[in-house]
Amino acid sequence: MNTTTVLEDEIAAAPAVQRCIEPSCGARYELAARLYVCARCGGLLDVVRDLAEKDHAGSVKGSDSVVKATGAALRKLWEERLASPDYRDRSGVWRYRELLPFDDETCVVSLMEGNTPLYDAPRSAGYCGLDRLKLKHQGCNPTGSFKDTGMTAAVTQALRLKVETVVCASTGNTSASLAAYAARADLKCAILVPHGQISHAKLAQSLDYGAAVLELDGNFDDAMRVIRELAEDESFYLVNSINPFRIEGQKTVAVEMLQQLAWEVPDHVVVPGGNLGNSAALGKGLLELYALGVIDRLPKLTVVQAAGAAPFAQMFAGGIPFGSPASANYDWSLEALQLRPIEHPQTLASAIKIGSPVSWKKARRAVIETGGRVLSVSEQEIADAKAIIGRDGIGCEPASATTIAGLKVLVAEGFVGAGENVVAVLTGHVMKDADYAINYHRGTLVSHSLAPDGSAEEQHLDSTFANPPARIKATRKAIVDQLARRAEDSGGQAGRGRPVLT
Ligand code: F0G
Repeated sequence: MNTTTVLEDEIAAAPAVQRCIEPSCGARYELAARLYVCARCGGLLDVVRDLAEKDHAGSVKGSDSVVKATGAALRKLWEERLASPDYRDRSGVWRYRELLPFDDETCVVSLMEGNTPLYDAPRSAGYCGLDRLKLKHQGCNPTGSFKDTGMTAAVTQALRLKVETVVCASTGNTSASLAAYAARADLKCAILVPHGQISHAKLAQSLDYGAAVLELDGNFDDAMRVIRELAEDESFYLVNSINPFRIEGQKTVAVEMLQQLAWEVPDHVVVPGGNLGNSAALGKGLLELYALGVIDRLPKLTVVQAAGAAPFAQMFAGGIPFGSPASANYDWSLEALQLRPIEHPQTLASAIKIGSPVSWKKARRAVIETGGRVLSVSEQEIADAKAIIGRDGIGCEPASATTIAGLKVLVAEGFVGAGENVVAVLTGHVMKDADYAINYHRGTLVSHSLAPDGSAEEQHLDSTFANPPARIKATRKAIVDQLARRAEDSGGQAGRGRPVLT
């Protein structure tokens, strides 16, 4: 930790600062202070702007009419920018720069991130028991995952701080994204990944973008611990989502999504949870939009984890507000909601194979303040949900499919009504983990878990919606016969409907 001192009154009036999220601390630091956690208490840091300094419960800075006018002015400005040729306006992050802690002179590092589609997904909707469902496909970012929306901000901050080397620990997507943005900014880059536990595609990206790739003996949580130690040395700048500037970029997905919905607020937004930066960021974005009067109510934000790597879901399992009236016995104090890390997380959704998520307190805030839920789903549920998303013509990586698997459960339980408006966020592209898809469709997908005695247990997953390739002779007849057989077998296909790009 460096020696940056806590700033109090002199910057309390500044438009944006870094602030400790711990209510008992709340220490403030200037934007140029190079730290990742509070120097006073070790708490996570938020970037806060005066502009958004209002809690959504209604303690409005200025009257309601001022808030309404601010919201309307921002919506108009952001609408106008859709037609602007300015390179910042072409980015789906910097278009919303009023919400970002950078001034107009900033030299922005961008790959035209964001601008990701919001699809109708009728087959996935039918599978979940919903009348309709939209998928916000963050896998359509430049490096194939939502990480780019945060990385553009974090690497821009790295330039502002004049750092030499940017570093991260990763399950593969953060590293691919950082490697690309560091290359754009001509910064040195080192990434730490758990050896043998990230997909080939993600590894290939980081190699191609020229990063120093360090494959660690251990899992992601080990990598995260080591990289935090490394970043105590000021020559390394850490851009994992513990870095609050990453969260600032990532929160803009909330704005882009709402703009695509013509500012009609959905009832639910559902995201996968790993290190919990994404849920933290989305929650922050939504709460700020509400505070600014851009939207007039909040969607419920729900986080879904893989059952073998679900410390956040376990934390909520003992009791949760769930947006419903508290039972007389429910302990509402946050002390009752403390995360217990999992030592050996296991899931084939390697992106979210995380046992000790760094941003859990911010994600806890997002879920509670929006009245959402946290749950976990099995490997089988993830695998089948992923195949169904594919049938909508929209590929995603396994971690993203937790959202549809989770929604199916939530509709069955009644937390999500069939007629409600729901957006699920797909976080990574199908090509990020082609091996998983091939194994599913060939019927060779095997997951591993730890038995109580510590030995590894194998589970062969069912390929409920398998679409295996057929090997045939090089004749016309063989093709025709094969297609006829396939037509006969096609009874098992999931719900029909024409996907429409909106
Ligand atoms: N989906 C994908 C495709 C991811 O790569 C990640 C995280 C998540 C979901 C979970 O997001 O961590 O913000 O809760 N990947 C990180 C990485 C950990 O290193 O690429 P989160």
